[in-house]
Amino acid sequence: MTTTPTTPTTPTTLSLGARSGRRLLQPALDLLDRRIDRRLRTARHEIAALRRELTATREELTKAHLRPHSFDMLYGRDGRAGHRMPSRADIDRLAARIAAVTGRDGAYAETVQAYRTLVELESRGVGRIAGSTANILGKLATTPLLDPPGGDLLEIGTLYGLFAGGMTRQLLRRGLSYRLTIVDPIAPVQLQPGVAITHDPSGTPVTEDVIRANLAYAGVRAERVRLHRGFSEDPDVRAALSDRRYGVIVIDGDHSAQGVARDLEWAEEIAASGAIVVMDDYGDAKWQGVQEATDRHLAGRTRLRMVGTVSTSAFLRAE
Ligand SMILES: C[S@@+](CC[C@H](N)C(=O)[O-])C[C@H]1O[C@@H](n2cnc3c(N)ncnc32)[C@H](O)[C@@H]1O
Repeated sequence: MTTTPTTPTTPTTLSLGARSGRRLLQPALDLLDRRIDRRLRTARHEIAALRRELTATREELTKAHLRPHSFDMLYGRDGRAGHRMPSRADIDRLAARIAAVTGRDGAYAETVQAYRTLVELESRGVGRIAGSTANILGKLATTPLLDPPGGDLLEIGTLYGLFAGGMTRQLLRRGLSYRLTIVDPIAPVQLQPGVAITHDPSGTPVTEDVIRANLAYAGVRAERVRLHRGFSEDPDVRAALSDRRYGVIVIDGDHSAQGVARDLEWAEEIAASGAIVVMDDYGDAKWQGVQEATDRHLAGRTRLRMVGTVSTSAFLRAE
């Protein structure tokens, strides 16, 4: 049998062919490489964007889970001047200060009780309580812990009446039976000499009905309230309201130095022995007249002594 010998392809012929083929294909291969690179780059950017989106979504979900919007609606600042969301550290600091001023080992539970009172009052009432959360809690918790000599309470400047309602409740916590006297001009928007206040963040006008309703919402019994429309410096007002000695006097009306000085002079006359006089907004940079007049008053002849300060209130005791 004869076989036809096949011509072997030499390696030289092969590599030459491949090389020239590659040369021919090189532009197409380069183009392909560039396209793949571009796609990879785009994919990397897309992955990074997706990662960012995932992180943001996770944060949103965590936030919504920990603090839903309904929480903000209940405790946020809308409809009042500040929020009611003190941190644990805020409360610890405040409680330590209240304990120091009242000479107690601690005041954490009392501070928390005052907080519940504040939240409940503003939730049920109309309008708002004036001031920061720390200052309101400071007044509500400190005053009863200073053991005032009785529950006759005078508030000079009430705005919506909610704070006064809260203070009567706080006195009850110490077993003090309250009688509440309030003096306020009951102007639709609070009056402050030298300061033009045109609207209230709550949107509610101050009226006698509003104050009385708030006192009722706070649980204050109508027969224990004396609501006097007028100015604390008015001699007729003073004559009408100086019929008793008060165990607690909250001075929170005219915040000018002159107005505060006048209220302190009156407090000298009507404070019971051992009474607590609360100087609201003492040390508050916005109401410098309060500290100015208080310090000047305490430096003169007086039966009032500084017990201490909590947040932006000073607590004085009458001899
Ligand atoms: C800061 S607000 C009182 C806030 C209230 N004590 C509270 O804690 O929510 C001051 C109030 O005092 C009133 N006021 C201003 N001058 C006064 C005065 N001479 N005598 C009594 N009240 C006065 C204002 O109209 C306002 O209602």
